[in-house]
Amino acid sequence: GAWRPDEDDQQRGASGPVRVRVPAKINLHLGVGPLRADGYHELNTVYHAISIHDELTARRGDTLTLTMEGEGAGELALDDSNLVLRAARALAEHTGHPAYARLHLRKQIPLAGGLAGGSADAAATLVACDTLWGTGLSRDELATIAARIGSDVPFLVHGGTALGTGRGEAVSPVLVRPTSWHWVVAIADGGLSTPEAYRELDRLRDAGDAPEPIGSADGLLAALRQRDPAVLAAALGNDLQTAALSMRPGLAATLRAGEAAGALAGIVSGSGPTCVFLTKDADDAERVAGELTAARVCRLARPAHGPVAGARVC
Ligand code: C5P
Repeated sequence: GAWRPDEDDQQRGASGPVRVRVPAKINLHLGVGPLRADGYHELNTVYHAISIHDELTARRGDTLTLTMEGEGAGELALDDSNLVLRAARALAEHTGHPAYARLHLRKQIPLAGGLAGGSADAAATLVACDTLWGTGLSRDELATIAARIGSDVPFLVHGGTALGTGRGEAVSPVLVRPTSWHWVVAIADGGLSTPEAYRELDRLRDAGDAPEPIGSADGLLAALRQRDPAVLAAALGNDLQTAALSMRPGLAATLRAGEAAGALAGIVSGSGPTCVFLTKDADDAERVAGELTAARVCRLARPAHGPVAGARVC
């Protein structure tokens, strides 16, 4: 329904700043199917939200503005291509509320890193503006708007561990007894373009130079239920890894270094170039992160745990 100004305006929504924290995602399983007619690939993926966060603050304003600090400041375009501004406008359009807010983003998730940082920021914006404006949408309604902004955005509204199908926008939670997994996230210098990684995978497949597609996520889901890091390590898989390694051959040394440091397994996260390593516990994650940093095979290695919640007001 359309938003109508009335005497309750000052009561509706939040008068003070609304702060939202949103996690990065990794894919425990990323099965890439054929290219569809709409330019997307059919996916079978298992998303997992980890404890590296961006923070978005929304304040009342009489226009829509965005400022930022942290990872990517000075590089990320703050124009209409920005996913934060697109998310704010999409929510405004859906609710009929004017798209007025002063938004500020504090980033820790690297740009174009394969951790869905831009999608996370869009999810944070939907939750923040919904609270600021008092438009009161459910998480499922927010996820529906999120799907129009990007394939990973609905997952970042929900968080946790979830199965993603379609182009990744159709998410359903994976119900397992709570278990914390301990990761090391090796952030590379520079980013990789997601569309280019998908194109490179198609090229390698057409040339017969790609491994067999990993297909359904059933094996990964069964491994998750066993709650044993060694079992989960053996089940991790990512079809886009071949493409990321082809575009950035140096990532092979990063993966080897993590495994040499005692990680149970390492994979490229999403379309890369971030690599993630599963370790047996939090102490091991600290230790492997230290060794990866010392080995100079990445810009920055940090421990993280998952699953964590999606975009939430804090
Ligand atoms: O959905 P999103 O805008 O984040 O996707 C970015 C790009 O990644 C798409 O334009 C497409 O090139 C590629 N992609 C894909 N198949 C998917 C998801 C993304 O080919 N399932």
